[in-house]
Amino acid sequence: MNVLGIETSCDETSAAIVTGGTRVRSCVIASSRETFSRSGGVIPEQAAREQIRSMQPVIDQALEQGGMTGHDVDLIAVTRGPGLLGSLLVGSVTARTLAALWKKPLIGVHHTLGHLSSTWLDQPDQPQFPLLTLSASGGHTELWLRRSHGDGKLLGQTRDDAAGEAFDKGATMLCLPYPGGPSISQTGETGDPFAFPFPHPLAGEDTLDFSYSGLKTALKYTLRDLSPRIDFSMLSATSSKLVSDLAASFEQAICAHLCSRVTRALERHAEVKEVHVAGGVSANRRLRAMLPQACGNRTIRFPSRLLYCTDNAAMIAAAGTFLLQEQQGKAVHVFETAASLPQETVFSC
Ligand code: KG4
Ligand code: ZN
Repeated sequence: MNVLGIETSCDETSAAIVTGGTRVRSCVIASSRETFSRSGGVIPEQAAREQIRSMQPVIDQALEQGGMTGHDVDLIAVTRGPGLLGSLLVGSVTARTLAALWKKPLIGVHHTLGHLSSTWLDQPDQPQFPLLTLSASGGHTELWLRRSHGDGKLLGQTRDDAAGEAFDKGATMLCLPYPGGPSISQTGETGDPFAFPFPHPLAGEDTLDFSYSGLKTALKYTLRDLSPRIDFSMLSATSSKLVSDLAASFEQAICAHLCSRVTRALERHAEVKEVHVAGGVSANRRLRAMLPQACGNRTIRFPSRLLYCTDNAAMIAAAGTFLLQEQQGKAVHVFETAASLPQETVFSC
C-alpha cells in the first residue's frame, strides 16, 4: 500500500510517500523556520500563508521523488489536529480535494499518533510490543504504554509547559535563536552541565507526569541574580563560558526529568520490551546519551533519521496505514480538523 502523507500542523509544509507503513520513498519538508527565528516563535497567519504557497509544489516533489503519480497512491493520510488551525486547514483542504479528484480513500490522523508512529520508519528490524514511547515536542510531553498500533495508554503528561517549549522559552531568555532545542544544545556543548543546580520538578511526588514551568522560572531567577552584572544579549553573541554553562545546565535538567519518568515507568511495567523516543526533543544529543542508563538493557529506538524527529509527513503516512488496518480497510472521509483534540481520540480517525 502506497500512502501519501500530508502534514501542516505548525510551520512546516510536508508531504511524503510511505509504502507498507514503514518504507519511506520520499519525504519533503518546506519550512518557514528561518522566517520565525527572529520572532522567537511562529506567527500563525504568516505560517498559513506560506503553506498555501508551498503545499502543491511539496506534494508534486514528494510524488516525483517517490517515482509515482496520483494514480499509484492507495490512500491519503492528513493531520487533522491538534495544531494551528489555519495551517491544519491548508493540509486538510488539499487532502480532501486530491482525494475527491483522484477518487482515493482519505484518513485523518491525530498529530500525536504520527509522532508515535515515527519510530517505525526505515528501521532495520520492526519494533516489538509492548513498548513505552516518550513523545516530547514543542506542544506536548507524554509517556505512552503501547500494546499494539491501535492501543495505547497515556501514563503521564506535562502539567504545564512541554519539554520543547521549555527549550524554546529558555533560549529566548538566553538570547539564543528559535527553535530553542538545537540552539541551547549547540551553545551548551562545551559547557558544564552541573554548573547551575536546577531543581528536580515534582520531586517527592509519586507520579509519571512532567512539569517544566518551575525550571523555566528557576532559569529566570538565575538570570535575574546574574544580570545586574551581565548583559546577556551581548554575551550570547560571543558564546561566553557563562552562557554555555547555563545552556548545558538547563538542558541537563530538562533531560534528567524526562529520563526519571522513563525509569519510573519501566519499574511499574516490567513487561515493556522496547523504549521509543519521538518528537522534536528526541533529536537532542544529551538526552540520547543519558537514556541508556534510564532504560537498563532494553532496546531504545529513536526515529531512524533526524528528519523524522520533528514534524514530517512520513510519520502521518505511517500512522494512516496502521489506522486503516485497524479499521479493517475502511477510510473515514468525514473527520473534524481542529486546533485542539482530546487525548482519547489519538487512536481514532
Ligand atoms: O515535533 P516538533 O517538530 O513540533 C511540535 O509538534 O512541537 O518539535 C519541535 C520542538 C521545538 O520546541 C524544538 O525546540 C524542539 O522540538 N527540538 C529540540 C531539538 N530539536 C528540536 N529540542 C532539544 N534538542 C534538539 N536537538
Ligand atoms: Zn510535532
